[in-house]
Amino acid sequence: MTKDHKNRRIKWGIIGLGNIAHKFATDLLTIEDAELYAVASRSAKKASEFANQYEAKKYYNNYSEFAKDSGIDAVYIATPHAMHKENTLMCLKNGIAVLCEKPFAMNREEVNEMITIAKQNNVLLMEALWTYFLPHYQYILNLLKNEIYGKVTTLNANFGFFREYDTSSRLFNKSLGGGSLLDIGIYPIFAALSTLGLPKHIEADATYFENGTDASCDMIFTSNNSTAHLRSSLLEDLSTEAIFQCDSATLKINTQFHAPTTVSIIQNGKEENIDFNYNTIGYNFEVIHFNKLLRDGHTESDIMTFKFSQNLINTLDTVREIINLKY
Ligand SMILES: NC(=O)c1ccc[n+]([C@@H]2O[C@H](COP(=O)([O-])OP(=O)(O)OC[C@H]3O[C@@H](n4cnc5c(N)ncnc54)[C@H](OP(=O)(O)O)[C@@H]3O)[C@@H](O)[C@H]2O)c1
Repeated sequence: MTKDHKNRRIKWGIIGLGNIAHKFATDLLTIEDAELYAVASRSAKKASEFANQYEAKKYYNNYSEFAKDSGIDAVYIATPHAMHKENTLMCLKNGIAVLCEKPFAMNREEVNEMITIAKQNNVLLMEALWTYFLPHYQYILNLLKNEIYGKVTTLNANFGFFREYDTSSRLFNKSLGGGSLLDIGIYPIFAALSTLGLPKHIEADATYFENGTDASCDMIFTSNNSTAHLRSSLLEDLSTEAIFQCDSATLKINTQFHAPTTVSIIQNGKEENIDFNYNTIGYNFEVIHFNKLLRDGHTESDIMTFKFSQNLINTLDTVREIINLKY
């Protein structure tokens, strides 16, 4: 039976209580028409501590019992990439709307299967690419769409930080989908696809850690009228900016471009800085959008569409084919 979400708070759940789950829960508590209702961990201790910290009513020490709880309206999946498909399918089949972390899954086949199951079950599914919903990013998209400063000729976007090689961390664990491309390279690629569309041609080159996860990845996306230079790295701190060279101005999303930040518009030697006065970590914006979709009975986002998620994973797959990165 379809749930009626119209006149009550959306009851959220979280699967996988790691680093990002804490940030998400912190921002969820700032949203009036939502509550953290249940959490699931593989560890009972972790689940009960997390539930206590963020005032969740229920906690589970395994994911499958959690998914059977008919009180849950929506789940945020915060497990490593390699678990996204399995965790998503389990929730969709139990009628729970799914907001699943990026990358949506490991490859295009997995993403297509998730979308098929969401459609079959008539349940809302969305990739949690939070950047799309951040006001500064929407501001830039609006400037570009309306060609306020003309067309974009070049995009330079990167995301990089130094992290000690440590295979106990999911970042470097190949079986969990580790490496720079899927974890952080997805953001510069997202910046290119959301502003320039799909490229006509892709060049890519990578360096590797000894276990075969990619340490860094350089990409050049070319279209008829624009070029995007993109880079991800776990070897060095990069500027983590996105700089759009337009016909009559340079638009700069300052560091870290994928998270709450400021925008600079540089034109005729003058620089204007725009501050968006963020007062949360930034995860509330995607949740507010998701809650509205759920209340309005939608099963797909009009911003983070299935088509966009499919383009994103197709592009990641293509880059992986070029750099010969196999999972
Ligand atoms: N949107 C963003 O800004 C952002 C930022 C960081 C990460 N992410 C994404 O969120 C996901 C999780 O990242 P994270 O940094 O939170 O990772 P993390 O700290 O390692 O947490 C992942 C959690 O997944 C669960 N898990 C299930 N199976 C696991 C396994 N075999 N090995 C390890 N953990 C397992 C664990 O929770 P339990 O022990 O509680 O079961 C673990 O704490 C990734 O897909 C990543 O791309 C997004």
